[in-house]
Amino acid sequence: MEIKGAIIAMSEEARRSHAKLLVNIWDEKYVLHPSWWKGPYDISSVLRRVAAGADVLDVGCGTGRYLVPLHRNGFRAVGVDISREALVLLDPRYARVLSDVHQLPFSDRSFDAVTCYGLLGHLTGNGRKKAVGEFFRVLRDCGLAFVEVLGRRDLRRSQGVKFTADTLIRGGIQHHYFSPWELCELFQSTGFVMKALDEKVSHKQYKGAEHTRHRIVMVAEKP
Ligand SMILES: C[S@@+](CC[C@H](N)C(=O)[O-])C[C@H]1O[C@@H](n2cnc3c(N)ncnc32)[C@H](O)[C@@H]1O
Repeated sequence: MEIKGAIIAMSEEARRSHAKLLVNIWDEKYVLHPSWWKGPYDISSVLRRVAAGADVLDVGCGTGRYLVPLHRNGFRAVGVDISREALVLLDPRYARVLSDVHQLPFSDRSFDAVTCYGLLGHLTGNGRKKAVGEFFRVLRDCGLAFVEVLGRRDLRRSQGVKFTADTLIRGGIQHHYFSPWELCELFQSTGFVMKALDEKVSHKQYKGAEHTRHRIVMVAEKP
């Protein structure tokens, strides 16, 4: 079949219903698996670089794996997540806001640090740029962004329906696997300056087979 003429852009209504569907998928994950994102955490890099009492925004906070220790270590920490079901699992004493990372409901220069663990890979290419632009906007001068994403050597890069070479759809959600260079480029093109970049590769046995976990952790500064 030949299709002639311009490709019509997705309507605003279709875009909204797609965004709503994604929220429903995240909500459903938290209802069915409330303990999925409750594993170990490491905030040592934040503790080394940010003074206690500083304003920290944890984007994609989920049920508070990082938000709670940030709060307990003396930061004025606020969590943001798109899933209401995640936020209701979080003790109300921790400040949290239901919001989309693409448009954060905070004024320019409100925070000394932004933390974002395991979220960027779930956004589209444009979404990732928008999100990093929002980090830049809400950070004060010399503010730091602490980010963790999955890297291309992660075993799960081969699991799911392939969308592009490094992007798969699994459980209705996009999973993008980064190269360190790509992550740097994303932040540098927004105006950030790279302060630290590290790759963490670990192996674990699961159902008799060895699985490789590849994480990229990065610290970037708004000059
Ligand atoms: C893989 S989980 C990580 C949760 C938490 N950071 C952790 O490491 O335990 C990704 C989180 O990002 C949230 N999320 C997904 N898309 C989002 C968006 N557009 N805006 C804000 N949060 C989003 C999900 O609801 C989920 O809680």
